[in-house]
Amino acid sequence: MKRGELLYEGKAKKIYLTDNPQQVWVAYKDDATAYNAQKRGSIQDKGKWNNRISARLFQFLGEKGVEHHFLKEISATEQLVRRVTIIPLEVLVRNISAGTLANRLGIEEGRRFARPVVEICYKNDELGDPLITEDHIAAIELATDEQVTQMKEIALKVNELLSEQMDRCGITLVDFKLEFGIDGDGRLLLADEISPDTCRFWDKESGKRLDKDRFRRDLGDVEEAYHEIWSRLGGETHV
Ligand code: C5P
Repeated sequence: MKRGELLYEGKAKKIYLTDNPQQVWVAYKDDATAYNAQKRGSIQDKGKWNNRISARLFQFLGEKGVEHHFLKEISATEQLVRRVTIIPLEVLVRNISAGTLANRLGIEEGRRFARPVVEICYKNDELGDPLITEDHIAAIELATDEQVTQMKEIALKVNELLSEQMDRCGITLVDFKLEFGIDGDGRLLLADEISPDTCRFWDKESGKRLDKDRFRRDLGDVEEAYHEIWSRLGGETHV
């Protein structure tokens, strides 16, 4: 497998072509951004921990029947994934109030909802990733109704599986964001990453935040939090 030319550079990852047109090479970076890139910084070893955490969580979900893009780890900070065209939507699932929902609805953080909340945002940096309705999605042809239904179903399934898995590791899954893509065969696949950058993880006992909120809110112990999640998932690696 050879790394080819740079296809795309995002805030947290670089994507390279490979000699296989169906596969791309993802390099996780230590760069960190928050609040639509108004806050910028770097978290030591974030690329390594997120690459490993994401790989492990995709593998876990795959074993439970969730179709995803992850193929294999290449190095400590790199992984091979199926090439997909990303649907420009972010599917958020929330179990406990936090972040933008707590602000928008004026409720305190930490309240467990009567049922999981699914929100869809339009992936658009210029607009600040606004919430979007299913009518809007259909009207401006971002995805089909069937794809939206499927993405919501998969997101809720991922929520059940991940909540249980994290609970076994002593962590409460507060909320998370998923992205989906369409591969060369037209399949809808779970894509992007699942990591402390894209999930809120709270320690079950102490309530300590073990995710990117430590960077967003200047809470300190940022690197330690990412490492802690990796350790709780079992740590170690063969890469
Ligand atoms: O900021 P907000 O409360 O809307 O975030 C909800 C969840 O989605 C958090 O776990 C956050 O890390 C994730 N998220 C993300 N990328 C975004 C927006 C939110 O990973 N662009």
